[in-house]
Amino acid sequence: MNISVIVLGAGKGTRMKSNNPKVLHKISGKSMISHVIDSVKDISDDIVVVLSHQAKRIEDELNREYNNLKFHIQDLENFPGTAGALRGISPRYEKVLILNGDMPLITKESIGKLIEKDGDINLSVLELENPKGYGRVVIENGEIREIVEEKDCSPTQRDIKSVNGGVYCLKREVLEEYIPRIDNSNAQKEYYLTDIIKLAVDDSRVVNPIFVDESEFKGVNSKYDLAVAEEIMQKRIKRELMESGVTMRLPDTIFIDINSQFEGEVTLESGVSILGDSKIVNSHIKSNSIVESSIVKDSEVGPMARVRPESNIIDSKIGNFVEVKKSTLNGVKAGHLSYLGDSTIDEGTNIGAGVITCNYDGKAKHKTIIGKNVFVGSDSQLVAPIIIEDSVMVGAGTTVTKNIKEGSLAISRVKLKVVKDFFYKFFGRG
Ligand code: UD1
Ligand code: CA
Repeated sequence: MNISVIVLGAGKGTRMKSNNPKVLHKISGKSMISHVIDSVKDISDDIVVVLSHQAKRIEDELNREYNNLKFHIQDLENFPGTAGALRGISPRYEKVLILNGDMPLITKESIGKLIEKDGDINLSVLELENPKGYGRVVIENGEIREIVEEKDCSPTQRDIKSVNGGVYCLKREVLEEYIPRIDNSNAQKEYYLTDIIKLAVDDSRVVNPIFVDESEFKGVNSKYDLAVAEEIMQKRIKRELMESGVTMRLPDTIFIDINSQFEGEVTLESGVSILGDSKIVNSHIKSNSIVESSIVKDSEVGPMARVRPESNIIDSKIGNFVEVKKSTLNGVKAGHLSYLGDSTIDEGTNIGAGVITCNYDGKAKHKTIIGKNVFVGSDSQLVAPIIIEDSVMVGAGTTVTKNIKEGSLAISRVKLKVVKDFFYKFFGRG
C-alpha cells in the first residue's frame, strides 16, 4: 500500500521515571515501540522512526528486530515536541500515518479504520470518562475545531471527554504546509503536532474524527499506565489462545509473552508464566511454573518448576523445585529439587531428588552429558565437564568427578559409622 508511516519515539518520557527510554519498556515481552511497528509493518515500506533521547540504544534494538526501518533524529533542543519531531522528514508517499510510539495496544484493524477514510486529516478520537493526561478535542456542531493540550486547557476545556488518541492519517502536503507554521507558544514551550488541527480547520480543510476504543489507543506515560496496558494485552493474548484451544486454569493468574507459541493439547495451571519465544506442544504446565525461551513438548512440568532459556524438554517429566537451564532432556524424569544446567540427558534416565549439575567452576560453564537409562541416585553432584554413558547407576549421595563408562556403578561415600547408645550418652536418658 502506498502509505508512509512515522512513529514518534524521541520524547524523554520523564513521567516514566526511568533511566531506560520510555518506548523500550516492555508489554508482554515486547517493547512498546515494537508493538506499534508491528501494527503497521504490513501496510508500509516507508516507516520512519523518530528518535533523539537515547537514540542509539533504541535504533540498535529495533535493527535487531526489523531490517527496513528508517531513522530520523529530532533536534530535541531547538524543536522539542511532537511537531518538532516531524521537521526535516520527507515521506515517500502522499498519504502519511503518524503514530505515537507509546501506544502498544494499537491493532491493525483500528489502523485500517483510520486510513480508509478520505480527508485532509483523519484524527483518532477517544471518549473517556477520565480524560486526564490527554489532549482535549474541541468539537463544535459535530466538527473538530482544535486540540488543546491538558496543560493549556481552560477549566471548561478540561472537562471535555473527547481526547486525541495520538494517531493521525494525513496528506503529505498538509504536513509540508503546516509543520513549519506551528510555533511553541504554549505552557510547555513545545512544538505540538496537535496544533495542526486548528491550522487546517482555519483553512477549511476536511478534518475527520475517527472514534476509537481506549483499549487500543491507550497512551503509556507512567509505570501505572504500563501496568494497565499490560493487563489489557494479557487479556487479549490469553483470550486468543483459549479460543485456539489452550486450556487455562484461572487465566487471570497466568502470564504469557506475546512471542510464545502453543500447539496441540496444552494445559496451563494457575500462576504459570510462559516467557520469551517459548514453544509449548502437547504439554501440561502445572501451577506456579516458569518456562522461558524454551521448547516443551509432550511433557509435564511443575508444579513450581523453572525452565530457563534454551532448554528443550521433550517427552519428559519435570517436578517441583526443579530448575533446568540450557539443557536438552529427552525422555527423562526429574521429579524433585534438582538443578540441571548446560546438560544433555537422554531417554529412560531418572534423575533422583536433589541431583545437581555443578556446571560452573567459578570461571567457566561446563557441560554434563548423560546417556540412556541412567539412574542418578538422590543428592548426587555431577561435576562438569562430565560424560555419564548409557545404563550407569550412580549411588545416592555420590559426587561424580570423572566420566563413567557404560554399564558401571559410580558410588562415592564416606563409610557409615554407627555408635551404639551415643544419643543417650550425649543427652542422657531424662
Ligand atoms: C500526546 C498528544 C496528546 C494525545 C496523547 C495521546 C501532543 C502535543 N500531544 O500527548 O494530544 O492525547 O499524545 O497519547 O502531541 N515525542 C517525540 N518528540 C518529542 C516529544 C514526544 O518524538 O519532542 C514522542 C514520544 O516519544 C511519544 C510520543 O511522541 O512516543 C507522544 O509524546 P508524549 O510526550 O507521550 O505526549 P503526550 O503528552 O502523551
Ligand atoms: Ca503519551
